Amino acid sequence: MVESEVIRLGSSLFTYPVIRPRRLRSSGLIRDLVAETTLKPSDLIMPLFIKENLNEPEPIKSMPGQYRWPLNDKLINFVDQLVNSGVKSVILFGIPEHKDEWGSSAYDEHGIIQRTIRFLKDSFEDKLVVMADVCLCEYTDHGHCGVVKKLPNGGYIVDNDTTIGLYAKTAVTYAEAGVDVVAPSGMMDGQVKAIREALDRAGFSNVAIMAYSAKYASSFFGPFREAASSAPKFGDRRSYQMDPRNAYEALKEVTMDIGEGADIVMVKPATLYLDVIRLVKQSFPEVPLAAYQVSGEYAMLKAAIMNGWLDERKAVLESLIAIRRAGADLIITYFAKDVVNYIDEIERLF
Ligand code: PBG
Ligand code: ZN
Repeated sequence: MVESEVIRLGSSLFTYPVIRPRRLRSSGLIRDLVAETTLKPSDLIMPLFIKENLNEPEPIKSMPGQYRWPLNDKLINFVDQLVNSGVKSVILFGIPEHKDEWGSSAYDEHGIIQRTIRFLKDSFEDKLVVMADVCLCEYTDHGHCGVVKKLPNGGYIVDNDTTIGLYAKTAVTYAEAGVDVVAPSGMMDGQVKAIREALDRAGFSNVAIMAYSAKYASSFFGPFREAASSAPKFGDRRSYQMDPRNAYEALKEVTMDIGEGADIVMVKPATLYLDVIRLVKQSFPEVPLAAYQVSGEYAMLKAAIMNGWLDERKAVLESLIAIRRAGADLIITYFAKDVVNYIDEIERLF
């Protein structure tokens, strides 16, 4: 092999000893030394479905290994295991008994999520970050993320400005229950501003907002909608969630959310939108960025793993490392509970 040659590094030409990238791959220790990306239990947020009037955890068919949780000691045990294994954040989704056209159970002060927040805060105090999704789709009988207005021509619209008022009301009841972070996910315009103003007016300027800023109209939410019985009964979510064909439009959404007071912004789904994660992180490196590895991404991996077609540990770690490498600081993932048990193996598996 030649000893040196003229090579191009960045914009300059160098006479350089021949670079052999393999030198830095020769042992596990050297690979660890030069690894660019890390993954820690404290980067992960575990999603939890809480169902009203349930006694035992109920398996979710399209998400093997995931459950709808009852509001009792079974939930506390599960969260206790999470906390002990190093996952210190959860995001809550409610499955109420009562649904109506206004989604009124979402902003009921004795609603399922309000009670869950109080229960978790009483049990774990400052050992757990409690986040709660703010949306109406789990609470409306029609399954849309906002209030539906029928039009004279027989069509309908999801009414933006009525809806953001109800999101604000919901967020304040979560804050009263002791939530740390509210996470508006309905993709209504101005939702972050409406929530920030309502929280501040009610004396909750310390409650943070994690905005689902670039949330795409994705088919990969299917298993979640089964889990939460929140699929729209008519139409779809394309008039409010983003078009999967657009990347740069995400910057418009993220810029607006930051301007409206979002503390953390989010890209969702994660693995199919790594380009968007990178774009947002490069544009706003100073703002914490979350990515949501959604139910369909979980189901897809889990199905192949259960068939023996993928190695669970390697595949899950690689998918999470990819999301972090693209630029996400935090990851919401249904694998959070299990992956922390083998997260240390990154150094053996890579
Ligand atoms: C509520 C909400 C959804 C998800 C998070 N918040 C469902 C949807 O928009 O239909 C999806 C999460 C997942 O698929 O894991 N708006
Ligand atoms: Zn929704």
